[in-house]
Amino acid sequence: MKAASTMARKDAAERGTIGRPMLRRRLQRLLASSVRARPRPAAAQALELCRSTLGEEELLAAFEVLLDGHLTMGPQTATFEDEWSAWLPAGFSLMVNSGSSANLLMLSTLTFPGQPNGLKPGDEVILPAVGWSTSLFPIAQTGCVPVLVDVDLATLNLSPEKVEEAITDKTRAILAIHLLGNPCDIPALRAIADRHGLYLLEDCCEAHGASIGGRKVGTFGALSSFSFYYSHHMTSIEGGMVCGQDRSGWRDALVSQRAHGWIRGRSDQHQWTGQYPDIDPRWLFVSTGYNVRPTELNAAIGRVQLTKLDHFVEQRMAIRRRLLERLRPYESWLALQRERPGHSHSAFGLSLIVRPDAPFSRRLLQAFLESRGIETRPIVGGNLARQPVMRHVPHRVADLLSNADLVHHNGLMIGNHADLTDAQEDHLITCIAEFMEAHALRAA
Ligand SMILES: Cc1ncc(COP(=O)(O)O)c(C=O)c1O
Repeated sequence: MKAASTMARKDAAERGTIGRPMLRRRLQRLLASSVRARPRPAAAQALELCRSTLGEEELLAAFEVLLDGHLTMGPQTATFEDEWSAWLPAGFSLMVNSGSSANLLMLSTLTFPGQPNGLKPGDEVILPAVGWSTSLFPIAQTGCVPVLVDVDLATLNLSPEKVEEAITDKTRAILAIHLLGNPCDIPALRAIADRHGLYLLEDCCEAHGASIGGRKVGTFGALSSFSFYYSHHMTSIEGGMVCGQDRSGWRDALVSQRAHGWIRGRSDQHQWTGQYPDIDPRWLFVSTGYNVRPTELNAAIGRVQLTKLDHFVEQRMAIRRRLLERLRPYESWLALQRERPGHSHSAFGLSLIVRPDAPFSRRLLQAFLESRGIETRPIVGGNLARQPVMRHVPHRVADLLSNADLVHHNGLMIGNHADLTDAQEDHLITCIAEFMEAHALRAA
């Protein structure tokens, strides 16, 4: 009898008829025991650079996709794009498999030869020297020249004065990176871009929910990019979004760039098929392109995370506010990143820059924090001009990059995440206080 029912279950599972409820129950049991019990680091107050925010709902959503069988880009992705567009808000959003791919598509679309008023090989794109590798590489990979400009030491963002000085008759675009969640001085950059007829692009990969005068970053540039890598404000594990306000201008070109250069998903498909009736419309290629599509798993996870994003951002911002207040006594030796008035920082991470006249080095502070279980890392990619790969990447350095150098040599970053505990906050402050007092005594 037992054997017969086991056989029947096996049979049914193979046919996919009774498998789902049983699998779901099993998964729920598994999740109940594992997600809630996700281990924290050995010492309760130790502080990791990042921590997964995936909960039961995200895993169940991913599981439903696996059961559903529609695995690669499809309805989950399209719905996530609409929900993201409503949240930002954006005229359109396209999901891709990473923030790096979002940056690549911005540049490959702008430089595609068929793009009206596009960029040509040799045109210059200005970006901050302190940024991320894959903010810069797509500029060079699409034949343009990255021009590295110094950052402002208070905001760690592009200095508008330095941008203006760096402009030549080859300059076509400014790529603003909202570093660590701090909005760039967009009004100043917008004015420069308009004065010189340049595209303004935004890399918001670290700045979900950051805003200027209540308007979110990612809504100011011609195109903007976001990352959903798991250390960011919300995650789809890997994933990204490229957004724009003007649906007619860019969306179709980005759709083709995202998937093979073909016409699927474009609004002007009929025009193309009418023009090329001899080519199978499913394999009609009208653009260069890549395959940087997301999977439905990423989109389903992203959709659940988006419902929590505002809360995650608020948590991060509250933690940062408290930490900045408690670090204020050490500001004569540690430069902290500050936002401009009316700008709302979404607190990706906490940067500390050891001032040149401090009686200790960054290396010493870093070693001390690490020895106390506080993970550290450089501030994003440091001064990108100092990275060895730049020997192989044609670029221009517009000025001395002295602030970027200070960030590179004296800066470190500590992780922030939505569920940082009071014990972790206290531990961080206690460690810094202990370190400072030791050095103040020695300095005196
Ligand atoms: C400023 C910036 N741009 C782009 C990226 C690339 O995003 P992803 O890791 O999703 O490729 C990152 C990654 O953290 C980043 O910090």
